[in-house]
Amino acid sequence: MADLLFSPKFVGPMRLEHRVVMAPLTRMRSSIGNLPNDLMLEYYTQRATPGGLLISEASPVALTGYGFERAAGIYDDAQIPGWKRITDAVHAKGGRMFLQLWHVGRQSARILQPAGAAPLAPSAIRADGTAWTLNGTVPYDMPRALELDEIPPLIDAYRQAAARALQAGFDGVEIHGANGYLPDQFLQDGTNKRTDAYGGPVENRARFLREITQAAIDVWGADRVGVRLTPSGSYGSMSDNNRHATFSYVATMLETMEVAYLHIVQPRIGGDAEPDPVDVSVLRPLFSRTIIAAGGFTAESAERLLESGNADLIAFGRAFIANPDLVLRLRNHWPLNRYDRLTFYGGDFHGYTDYPTFNSDENEQSSLPSQPTIG
Ligand SMILES: Cc1cc2nc3c(=O)[nH]c(=O)nc-3n(C[C@H](O)[C@H](O)[C@H](O)COP(=O)(O)O)c2cc1C
Repeated sequence: MADLLFSPKFVGPMRLEHRVVMAPLTRMRSSIGNLPNDLMLEYYTQRATPGGLLISEASPVALTGYGFERAAGIYDDAQIPGWKRITDAVHAKGGRMFLQLWHVGRQSARILQPAGAAPLAPSAIRADGTAWTLNGTVPYDMPRALELDEIPPLIDAYRQAAARALQAGFDGVEIHGANGYLPDQFLQDGTNKRTDAYGGPVENRARFLREITQAAIDVWGADRVGVRLTPSGSYGSMSDNNRHATFSYVATMLETMEVAYLHIVQPRIGGDAEPDPVDVSVLRPLFSRTIIAAGGFTAESAERLLESGNADLIAFGRAFIANPDLVLRLRNHWPLNRYDRLTFYGGDFHGYTDYPTFNSDENEQSSLPSQPTIG
């Protein structure tokens, strides 16, 4: 059997040596000021591999974009040097790194918003669920509908964030259009009841995503911009009357815009209760460049999907949290560490940089050296 997972692939001008991508993973470990720090540097360095693509944790483009406290930001020039040290270290190992651009929209609480204001959304409809502070979760607050004249400054925030990512040495940017965050809230009709140019028919609901993607393209060129979507996700109380039509329209729009890749979170088996989910097999005929698939993959299921031709790269999330040497483990069919859910969001090096690598000589696990850089 051909080992497609370990065969090379070009994404735009960037040559990858294997198809194992680190999925974007919010870990809430930045320093005061939402600055990338030494602990994050160690974490990403551990996970970088020659010719391997890492996608950063989602990084807010504005303070109003926060729903997870201490996510490392990209809304302030002061955040550039910390990210630069991380991309330099990843590049020194031969790796590549994209930054994920984020605005949570309504998936936030007043306690996380500037001056305790209401979170922003296309329409004033509250989501079920909780935002994350360093002290635990808080229920989402009722959002406020964005005024029409507030939208261009938000698009400009994406543009400026993309420019900072360029200065910080990333290899490209990924628009976070997934998981019920702001661009997704505009896209799906359950969360967008606007009657202006950003609401109503799908071409209007897709306008926000199109404009922020174009802003990133203006900075980077289309072959350095990817877009992440969850066409079958319900996280964030998302709903749409016709997901097939909505996401087919978006895939076609992004094909026309010539973005480098579509990053699709696959429907959960037995999870999202949709009889006819929109997965990569639906979008593949509409999008000719790279498709990254994510969501519950093992080495075997990844290989099968690559063989089908419906995806070109496979992103791994939780497996990458628990296995700094995931790429080697998959390559050599070594067993994986189990992840600890309690240390996903916030905290120190525990459950972040202290997962052991696999020691093949002794066929047992050895501990990585790790410094408790933040308390
Ligand atoms: C702790 C944690 C943080 C996550 N943060 C992000 C994020 O910042 N951006 C994003 O697009 N997805 C995020 N996700 C979703 C993952 O990227 C991925 O799609 C999901 O975990 C499914 O893949 P897996 O089964 O390989 O873990 C997160 C998931 C987890 C578990």
